[in-house]
Amino acid sequence: MSDKNVLVIGGAGFIGLHVVSQLLDDGWNIRIFDNMVRGDRDRANELVKTGRVDVVDQDIRNGVSIMEAMRGYDYVIHLAADSINKSVADPATSFDINVVGTHNVVSAAAALGVKRVVYASSASVYGDPEKLPMHEDDRLNPLTPYCIGKRTGEDILGYYQRRSGLSWIALRFFNVYGEGQKTTAYYTSVINHFVNRLKNGDAPVIDGEGKQSMDFIHVTDIARAVVLSLTAEEADQAINVGTGIDTSVAELARILIDAVGVDVEPVFNPRDVLVSRRAADVERAQRVLGFVASVDVRSGMTRLVQNS
Ligand SMILES: NC(=O)c1ccc[n+]([C@@H]2O[C@H](COP(=O)([O-])OP(=O)(O)OC[C@H]3O[C@@H](n4cnc5c(N)ncnc54)[C@H](O)[C@@H]3O)[C@@H](O)[C@H]2O)c1
Repeated sequence: MSDKNVLVIGGAGFIGLHVVSQLLDDGWNIRIFDNMVRGDRDRANELVKTGRVDVVDQDIRNGVSIMEAMRGYDYVIHLAADSINKSVADPATSFDINVVGTHNVVSAAAALGVKRVVYASSASVYGDPEKLPMHEDDRLNPLTPYCIGKRTGEDILGYYQRRSGLSWIALRFFNVYGEGQKTTAYYTSVINHFVNRLKNGDAPVIDGEGKQSMDFIHVTDIARAVVLSLTAEEADQAINVGTGIDTSVAELARILIDAVGVDVEPVFNPRDVLVSRRAADVERAQRVLGFVASVDVRSGMTRLVQNS
């Protein structure tokens, strides 16, 4: 096997399939490890036909199977997780997958001498930010079992770096959107909600003044940051992956009205809402990964509407 071989855990999911596609373009051989609870099995099986992808249908909670699947692979991308929606309803399962499962992945990587682990963390580790843009060294305040699990995943990587010299990068993804996303996606469900209304000719309804904002980043940019992280010279740190721009819900509604091309005005539903805002400090991603987001929100959303 060439030395460009990578195990993509959670590789059949929304972000994973975009990552695998860019890895193929970049000449990598790929093993997808996914239990298919949210994965697209058909798409994964199609990728096998390239001759450079194979699929292991297993669970990261099974430490033996993760160790066996990782043997012979020099690089690991870990994207598997239980979703934020489910973590509040069932914290035990969330910790089992996101903490114990992640420990299985990271300890196996350390034991097998993997050259780099790239881990999907989340901007939600910051909690409600005290200032914008959000910097990697800001205080972390994870609020749900999912967010606690993500922060713990970063800590587990740090532990195996100190203990065994494991090289890692944790990417704190901001609000990812794009083709292939499930309609139940937590932070970005507002996109789907607005688009469905607009396609029926109905106006988007906004709670409050629509000032709450997100840093929407297109999934192809996220995938590029993941691939760059495999070979970045500087490692062993968390890195934000966002555009650096906060887009308010009111602005999003305008963008989607234009993208769908209907003649409606957003309806504001006056009530008190908690105005949370998000924007990534993107300096570290640029310096360490050479990464700058390339898809602006207007063109990314327009592309999404056209392809959905
Ligand atoms: N989508 C976002 O906006 C966003 C934001 C921040 C962080 N993230 C993180 O990025 C990663 C990928 O997110 P996504 O949106 O592609 O999610 P996704 O649910 O589409 O993909 C996750 C994949 O992991 C697999 N999986 C889940 N539990 C597993 C287990 N126990 N064993 C093996 N495989 C398992 C699923 O089948 C799925 O294919 C996740 O870790 C997520 O927490 C996503």
